[in-house]
Amino acid sequence: MLLVSKIREGTVIDHIPAGRALVVLKILGITGNEGFRVAVVMNVDSARMKKKDIVKLEGYYPRIEDLMKISLVAPEATINIIKDYNVVEKRKVEVPKVIEGVLRCPNPTCISRKPGEPISSRFLLVSGSPLRLKCHYCGTEIGENDVIEQLVGGGRS
Ligand code: CTP
Repeated sequence: MLLVSKIREGTVIDHIPAGRALVVLKILGITGNEGFRVAVVMNVDSARMKKKDIVKLEGYYPRIEDLMKISLVAPEATINIIKDYNVVEKRKVEVPKVIEGVLRCPNPTCISRKPGEPISSRFLLVSGSPLRLKCHYCGTEIGENDVIEQLVGGGRS
């Protein structure tokens, strides 16, 4: 059954973990006040994931750096680029092995937190599922919830 109609031009982010669609929108900075059409589908059945979320963005194309952030909260996500109702590009996000300058190390004494140091944060991927990242400088590990909290800016909306 088609829950939401197809879009003409834009992006469909598919295979988002169930319940995470709003986190994805927050990462993209989309509030709904931009004026373009946004469809959010949550907790629908999926052959691959049992349940999933989908976000459809009419006339919107995400930036590469945002796709990297999305990979951290939705590692199975598929990005479908739509032109004239057709999927002209389909690709899976990729969780990077090294994440630089995006997340803050929670260890206040970490060198990446030192004011005046020209060092940006650097996390290494320890495991993808469940997500675990390790600070390259001090070894502090962070998990999925820490990452979501940092990317959505406090609340888990
Ligand atoms: N879609 C859309 N508007 C279009 C074309 C596609 O909203 N004009 C949506 C579909 O509803 C689907 C997603 O984009 O949620 C991917 O479309 P498609 O590749 O046709 O579906 P599947 O083959 O099921 O995708 P996959 O193999 O990635 O599961």
